[in-house]
Order: sequence, then C-alpha cells, then structure tokens
Amino acid sequence: MMSGDRQHHVIFMPSGLRGYVPDGTLLMDAARQLGVELESICNGQGTCHKCRVHIETGEFPKHGITSDEKHLSPPTVREQQSFGKAANATFRLACQARIEGDLLVSVPEASLAHKQIIRKSANTQRPLTVKPAVRPLFVTVEPAMLDAQPGDWERLQTAIDEQHHLNGLRINLHALRKLQATLRAGDWQTTIVLREDRDILDVRPGYEDTVYGVAVDIGTTTVVAHLCDLRTGAVLATEAAMNPQVAHGEDVMSRISYVMMQPNGLDTLHRAIIDTLNRLIASAAESAGVAIDHIYDLVVVGNTTMTHLFL
Ligand code: FES
Repeated sequence: MMSGDRQHHVIFMPSGLRGYVPDGTLLMDAARQLGVELESICNGQGTCHKCRVHIETGEFPKHGITSDEKHLSPPTVREQQSFGKAANATFRLACQARIEGDLLVSVPEASLAHKQIIRKSANTQRPLTVKPAVRPLFVTVEPAMLDAQPGDWERLQTAIDEQHHLNGLRINLHALRKLQATLRAGDWQTTIVLREDRDILDVRPGYEDTVYGVAVDIGTTTVVAHLCDLRTGAVLATEAAMNPQVAHGEDVMSRISYVMMQPNGLDTLHRAIIDTLNRLIASAAESAGVAIDHIYDLVVVGNTTMTHLFL
C-alpha cells in the first residue's frame, strides 16, 4: 500500500493488468480503469452475479504485494444473498466490494465481458473473442403511479439511461406490445435484449440472461446451422442437411439457369432454403433445450448465388 494518499496496488490475473487506485474505489471501477472488462448485466445492482472475482490471499513477492480478502469492504447484503454462508470468503462481487488495501484478483473466464474461446470443431485452435451484437441488460423501472404522466416506454428509457448510460434507443413493435404486461409480471424489473446498443428486440420479466444466435453456412450442396450461446460463445447444437435446391440444379450455374428459365423459379429456390433453415434451427433448439423465441441473431454465409437465393 502507498501511504499518505491512500492509494492501493491492484493486480488482475490472468491478464496481469495492474495499477494504483484511490482508497474506497469499487473493484468494478478499478477493473475498468485498468483495462479489465468485467461482465455486468445488472450494471452494478448486485443482482446478476456475473462480476464474481476471486481474491488471492497471502504474500506475493513476484508481484511485490500482500493481498487479503480483508483489503476489501465487508460483504454487502446483496453478496450475502448471493454467496450465502461463503459470503465472507474470497469470492466477491466486483460491483459491491470497495478497495481498502492491496489486492491480487483472479478473474474467472466466466466473469469477463469478452470471453476468449478456442474453437476446435471448426478445425482451428485460433482463440476467438466473443463480442456479440445482441446482449441482455437488467433494468429496474419506476412503478407506474396514478399521478405520474410518463408511460411505461418513457419510464423504461429513463431507467436505461440512469442505470446503463444508454439513450436514444429504439424499441421494436413486438417488444413494445408486450412491455406493459412484462413490467408488471416482473414486478417492475425487466431484462431487455439489445442489439448493438441501439435497438430493443425484446423485453422479458425479471432477470433472464439467456440469448442465443445461429450461424449458418449455406453451401451449394450442404447447409449447416450452429446454435450458439451469445454470452459464452459455446456451440450448443449443430444441425446439417442437404441443400434442397440440389433437386433443381446440382451446381451454381444450373441453379441460375433454373431461375432464368422457370416461371417462379426464384421463388421455388428461395422457399426451399428458407424452409430448410427453419427446420434446422427448430431442431437445433429442440436438441439444446433452448426456447426458439430466445434466438435473437442469425448470421448467414454463402457464395454470391446462395446468398442471393436466400435473400
Ligand atoms: S454487475 Fe451484476 S452483480 Fe455485479
């Protein structure tokens, strides 16, 4: 510890990012300042439990510090609810714990906002950083009052701005239609599903962090769909089928010719691939035990002809 100005030395592992922060700094803020992005769906309300970190205890001559769980403020009520009897142990919620001494902090992979995964089944050991376009955010909204004018959507926007510092968001019609019932079902707590920090795709009652996406490769011969957990990058199920357009032409040139020569040829090939994709996605969702309406994103790749026939 540096005496006098009450700065504390904090080191995050395994990244090794380190620095000095003022006494009383939230562990979450220290992580942010030092370049460690922790998961935070509830934006520090202590409800999502995603910002869990481990405090190493003892002397660490290699790092030149002595770290101890007592170098953090006592566990908050939220943490006690989260960890039960283990609340005073070495696992803490970074959004709740304040720094009062030097610390060596281990960040589990699951607590990182952008997880690194190694994809083996795609014939590569290349580490991938998971940074999905769609993410869930937990929001607590002011209850509706008879004497208050703002509607549910206005109060939701205010709450998102205050709790997540996001404004100017748009909400799609599907989400807007269910907003009133959702807020009340969740006792004024909701999880919004947000695309690129701009569009609200869905609103769900209470806290729910499941969001899924599907990556599709439309080949001229085969079609493969991977159902992925957008928060962890895990591939939960993979389904494959023959491209049904084969029946109308084995290669790209013969399919283009089919479209040019046959009345409704384009529509026939388009319908065939859409039906196949819908079937593959439904079957992947079923085998992974995932609700199909929790799939919010779809990425499709293919050669130029396959892409145009899909669109
Ligand atoms: S950010 Fe949700 S519990 Fe800490």
